[in-house]
Parts: sequence; structure tokens; C-alpha cells
Amino acid sequence: MDAAWSQSQSAVRGSWAVVIRALAAAITLGVAGNGEAQQGATPKKPPRPERTAATRVIAANRLRDIYRGDPHSWPPPHVDPEIEWREIGLLPEVVHPESNPRSTEKEALGRTLFFDARLSASGKLACVSCHEPSLGWADGRGVSEPRGKGPGRNAQTIRNAVFQPALFWDGRAASLEEQIEEALTNPAEMAADRDQVVRLLAATPGYRKLYDDAFPGRALEFAAVVEAVACFERTVVGGKSRFDAFMKGDASALSDEEVLGLDLFRRDARCMNCHHGPMFSDGRFHDLGLSFHGRTNEDLGRYRITHDPADKGRFRTPTLRDVTQTSPFMHTGMFELRGVLAMYNAGMVTLKRQAFERDDGEFPVKSPHLKPLGLNRQDLDDLAAFLASLEEPPRGMRPPPLPGIEDQPVSAER
Ligand code: HEC
Ligand code: HEC
Repeated sequence: MDAAWSQSQSAVRGSWAVVIRALAAAITLGVAGNGEAQQGATPKKPPRPERTAATRVIAANRLRDIYRGDPHSWPPPHVDPEIEWREIGLLPEVVHPESNPRSTEKEALGRTLFFDARLSASGKLACVSCHEPSLGWADGRGVSEPRGKGPGRNAQTIRNAVFQPALFWDGRAASLEEQIEEALTNPAEMAADRDQVVRLLAATPGYRKLYDDAFPGRALEFAAVVEAVACFERTVVGGKSRFDAFMKGDASALSDEEVLGLDLFRRDARCMNCHHGPMFSDGRFHDLGLSFHGRTNEDLGRYRITHDPADKGRFRTPTLRDVTQTSPFMHTGMFELRGVLAMYNAGMVTLKRQAFERDDGEFPVKSPHLKPLGLNRQDLDDLAAFLASLEEPPRGMRPPPLPGIEDQPVSAER
């Protein structure tokens, strides 16, 4: 393996070294089968000294006192000068658009459609197949099947998607309505036929009733189906994590480890450069060096939409709420949480130019906001602990009965 990884290996001990090795292997596998390992060397930054248990307790108490106070009195985050950051905190209220106001009936229809595989061409794929409540509303897989053209991408959680200004890894959908229309009709996903969906509702008395309750007096049409699913998606929001409880004033909701992690997240680990605001996402696009430019798994992300060379390799910053439930990570679905943190600590991977790319003026450029961090193993554990505090508590979610089906499909409960 190359210098970057052997360096970062010496920077960690015990289980972290195992994580890095696994990670390096994953990356090498992902790189075109030409056998080259393609990460450029990252300058070494040795880990800072670890603290004794007693010093950690003192530091955690001091930080808890600071962070239990008004966010305006918190120390400023470590972000680069040009970053327009927003403080992390509680989620805002959901706003349903005027063009698609909320109603309980519409939400009920949307929920039912979300669980119904009969919408898909194959009859086997429902939204819930890839956005399963018990898997953090994602699917637990690396990349979702079927892959269609291209390398495939990791399924995102739909929880809190309502708060994202642009949807999908490349931001190609501007609203949930747009996003659903694509998810339903995309030949690589559900490949639904608009007329067939309408016919299914028309032919199923239970659906007719749900539809008429949701859209009194409106003729059956596909656009309404999309609106109902969007209405349902807007109700899938979080806000009950331990971090949220802490923000609401319960200073004991976060452990010492998690408080230390919160401070690291905002400052020494530099995460707030991109993961900021109530969503822990700036909604913008960055290149973390994972585009596999010029290789079999190439995915140029935002560039596929804008065709602006500056967007090559950029992907939308994902939310970190619930992140511990939606493993594996990144648009490639190749990494576990420990691996991701180890990569950030090393300043992320730098894709090396292959011979034929030497003079390529449009070669993707890794974000300048990524730098080697010099965090030690305790720090990485604290960061991981803080991220786990963003997890929503398990909640019962019974799949709705599907009209016209005797044997209900089963979906795990949460
Ligand atoms: C075959 C698996 C699969 C199915 C079925 C599927 N999705 Fe997805 N979903 C994905 C993947 C993969 C992505 C990321 C795709 C990308 O970025 O290109 C995604 C992205 C999304 C997002 C964007 C989240 C964000 O943060 O931007 C939403 C919302 C969503 N899906 C909702 C739905 C709905 C609603 C349905 C049913 C109509 C559905 N999905 C069906 C796999 C699936
Ligand atoms: C330069 C902006 C930037 C910085 C700084 C940054 N991230 Fe990210 N983060 C991103 C982007 C963009 C992605 C998605 C990249 C991709 O898939 O190619 C991501 C993905 C992740 C993921 C995977 C989430 C998922 O659902 O797949 C985690 C976890 C994560 N970041 C945590 C962190 C932590 C912890 C820090 C601080 C140590 C950090 N990030 C710093 C932009 C950033």
C-alpha cells in the first residue's frame, strides 16, 4: 500500500490500524482493475498526545458548562475564512408548500404508496425496499440494486430530506415532488409506468377510497400520486436524538465522551466547514477525492448535472443526523464510520493522476477545506460517540395495509 496509508497506520493504534487496512483494501478494490493503488501521499501530521482519564473528565465538565449555554456564547468553530457557516442545533418546523398542503388523508395515501411494490414495473420494488425505516430509512447496502448504467450509488436516508435544498448526491432534484417523479419512473429504479400506476389505483377500491379522501373531487392522475408521496416524506423528520435533548436544556443527555466529541466536531476536527446548521449539512457540493476519475467506478457527481469542470467529483454534503444508522457510507457505500473518520484525520485521499491524465486541466480537485487533523485515537472515539448521539430513538412503524392484498408484505418494525 502506498505512503499515505502506511503513515496513517503508524498514527493510530489497535483497532484503528485494522480499520485503515480494511479501508485501503476497499479503495484499491474500487479502483479500476488495473492494479494500481491511486491515492497520493498526504503530508503526515502526528497525532497529538492522549489525555489521562482525569484530565478528560475536567475538560468534559468545562465544555459541558460552555455548551449548555446559549449557542451565541459558544467558542467560534474552526472553519476557513470564506465559509458561511450556521450553528448546529434543533431542526426547524417543516413547511409544506402551498402547492401541496398537508392533510392526514394525503399523508395516509402517500405512506401506503411508499410501501407498495405494485407501483414498479417489476412489481417487486417499493420505495421502502431501499428506504427501510428500521435501517435509518436507507437500505444498509453498499450501492442499491438494480444498478442500471454507471457504478450505482448508496441509498440516502429520506429522514429530514425535506430540509435539503437539493436532493440526491448530485443535487439533481430541486423538490421532493421532482425527486419522487424520478425515483418512480427512472428505468434503473422502479421504472413505473404513469398510466399503469393510475390504473392500479382506479382498479383497487381501497386505493380509490384513499385517493378520494386525499384529493376530494380531483380526477385520478399521476401528479397527485407524486404529491401524496411527497406529503408523506415531509412527515419523516427527526428531532428526538440525545443531541436534540441536550440542545433543549438537558445537560446530562450527552456523556463526557460525547461532549468532548461535540467540541472536536465544531473545532479541532474542522467538520463544521461543511457539516453545519441544524442538518449538519451545508447543502453544498464538495470533492472528497472519491470520484474514481478515469477508472471503472468513475462517478463525477455534480458535474453530471452542471457540466461545469469545477464540479467534477463533487457530491452534496450528506446530513449526519442518524448517520450511525445508515452505514455503509459515502456515495460509493464503501466505508464504515471508523474508516471515514480515519480518512478525514489523514486529510482524505488524494486521487493521483494516471499517465494519460497528467496534462488534464479539468482533473478533479479535492476540497481545500480538508487537511490532516493530527487527532489521536481518543479524539476519533469521541467524535464517533458524538455522531452516535445524533441518532433518533427507535420508534414503532407498522407497514400500512396495502389495498387489495390479502397477505401483507412484512417490513421490520421500528
Ligand atoms: C432501488 C433502490 C431505490 C428505490 C426503489 C428508491 N430509492 Fe430513493 N434513493 C436510492 C438511491 C441509490 C438514492 C441516491 C441516488 C443518487 O443520488 O443518485 C436515493 C435517493 C433518494 C432521496 C434523496 C435524499 C437526499 O438526501 O437527497 C429521496 C428523498 C428518496 N430517494 C426517496 C425515494 C422514494 C419516495 C422512492 C419511491 C418512489 C424511492 N426513493 C425509491 C435508492 C432507491
Ligand atoms: C470539505 C467538506 C467536508 C468536510 C470538512 C467534512 N465533510 Fe463529511 N462529507 C462531505 C461530503 C461532500 C460527503 C459525501 C462525499 C461523497 O460521498 O463523495 C461527506 C460524507 C461524510 C460522511 C458519510 C455520510 C453518509 O451518509 O454517507 C460522514 C460520516 C462524514 N462526512 C463525517 C464528517 C466528519 C466527522 C467531519 C469532520 C472530521 C467531516 N465529515 C468533514 C463534506 C465534508
